Amino acid sequence: MRADFSKRRRTSLILTPVLMLALLSISALAKTEEADQLAGYIPGEERPGGKTSHNKPRDRHVFSQPSANMSFADRFNFRLGESLFDKIWVPSPSSTTASDGLGPLYNARSCDQCHQRDGRGRPPAANWPQEQATSLFLRLSIPPQTDEQRQQLKNGQIEAIPDPTYGIQLQNRAINGLDAEGHMQITYTESQVSLADGTQVNLRKPTYRISELKYGPLHPQVMFSPRIAPAMLGLGLLEAIPDSAIMALSDPDDLNSDGISGRPNWVWDQQQEQLTIGRFGWKAGNPTVLEQTVSALSHDIGISTPYRPSPYGDCTLRQTTCLDQPEGNTPQQDNSEASAELVQLLVFYTRNLAPPVRPAAQQPEVLRGKAIFQRSGCSHCHQPHFETGSNPDFAEQSAQRIWPYTDLLLHDMGEGLADHRPEYSATGREWKTPPLWGIGLTKTVNGHRFLLHDGRARTLLEAILWHGGEAAAAQQQVINLATSERNALITFLESL
Ligand code: HEC
Ligand code: HEC
Repeated sequence: MRADFSKRRRTSLILTPVLMLALLSISALAKTEEADQLAGYIPGEERPGGKTSHNKPRDRHVFSQPSANMSFADRFNFRLGESLFDKIWVPSPSSTTASDGLGPLYNARSCDQCHQRDGRGRPPAANWPQEQATSLFLRLSIPPQTDEQRQQLKNGQIEAIPDPTYGIQLQNRAINGLDAEGHMQITYTESQVSLADGTQVNLRKPTYRISELKYGPLHPQVMFSPRIAPAMLGLGLLEAIPDSAIMALSDPDDLNSDGISGRPNWVWDQQQEQLTIGRFGWKAGNPTVLEQTVSALSHDIGISTPYRPSPYGDCTLRQTTCLDQPEGNTPQQDNSEASAELVQLLVFYTRNLAPPVRPAAQQPEVLRGKAIFQRSGCSHCHQPHFETGSNPDFAEQSAQRIWPYTDLLLHDMGEGLADHRPEYSATGREWKTPPLWGIGLTKTVNGHRFLLHDGRARTLLEAILWHGGEAAAAQQQVINLATSERNALITFLESL
């Protein structure tokens, strides 16, 4: 990005003598506007997913389209994967071994119930108990209790120490005859931020409480982390970014003194049996789409796979009634509830959900907003572009210039967003920069605009105003913007 911008600046230098007189007579604001327009359009940025980007209608199915460069033959597998993503799992035993094994404890019955239309989830409506949470759940863990646990965490072999009774996640649903673990209750505290132009913005901060605990008390030191299901687009492209490109952005000691000290999360890859850069999840706690998929099957739906063979999902040894339930592992499914082939189809589907092209990428207001994004320091973390590596297993994703607007690194985002629950090497104040591609289509696909890891933000502006910690300077820039500049910034984000 910087190189591209400096090229533009050279053009403006040549023009300078001609423009000088005119420039002298206009206001400082107009000069910034001028500079913003010179920042200009970069060829290719209208295709955020490179050649995978699709040009299908920007309607509610816009996140469910395959990579545009996918072969005709592979489209069939993509559709098979899609049907598995939408498949509603049923409890065992059932007449069909292909769809049973749900639970015993679970949060939802299909991937699509949380990642609706491959988009993002939302917190339950405020009028609980009428609405049960689905696409927002709580991860649970406790601080290490023994030297062995301390060592395991230090070696990076486990993400966290689960609650001894409730496990790593609160499942608020269970199959018939078994109690759900409990229910999440959210209360919001409102506060106000005043912007430089006099606008007042209301922010709401959630607090969580778990009610109706059915398996005894939680550990007294239990930590919760709320997580909203993120949108699914472009995940295979993020997976195809070479480690070296991510490492090149890592600056844990802030040696370049920009106030931003991103670093990768190092997580355990069970397939490779080694520490790997985490890329998926709000704290980058998962290294690959495969790992994320098999852990979703196990913890969110309660489906075992050859990669996570226990049919009891997140049931712990203390949950004996859970372990007494019928299970669905069967030889037809590789002695699991879902076979390796089924997992591969799901992974293929998920990797190939393509980002849509950006028809508005060249509009002057969008380009002005892009320059404000750059100037406000957003792109230090929301890194505009990468080149993906070449990998025969990722034919569609190989060697593409992509525009995800993330560095995939962890950042301290301050106390306001902290969950105080570490995950691998991420602290309780750190979050991964989420990609911004497709963010302007949230309302179209999901009918809402709830943003951030817990869905507390109701607009793009609220999401920005929650930025603190390493992003405090960028947040302050936005507070200080003139109204028209702020509108341009939002227009740019909406265009992504
Ligand atoms: C109960 C809700 C729920 C269900 C069901 C669910 N997910 Fe998720 N998914 C989430 C949440 C929440 C996250 C973020 C997790 C985190 O921060 O660690 C996530 C993250 C992901 C990610 C990483 C996305 C990213 O941008 O980092 C992938 C891939 C994914 N899920 C795939 C699946 C698949 C495939 C299924 C079905 C087998 C599935 N999920 C089922 C809630 C769900
Ligand atoms: C220090 C790194 C950093 C900087 C600088 C930064 N962000 Fe972020 N941004 C993040 C992280 C991390 C999150 C996720 C926080 C969370 O969910 O709790 C985030 C979340 C967001 C979201 C919500 C995304 C979603 O999927 O819910 C938007 C929108 C956003 N940032 C826009 C901006 C804009 C605009 C700027 C510049 C004014 C900016 N960010 C500057 C790191 C940064």
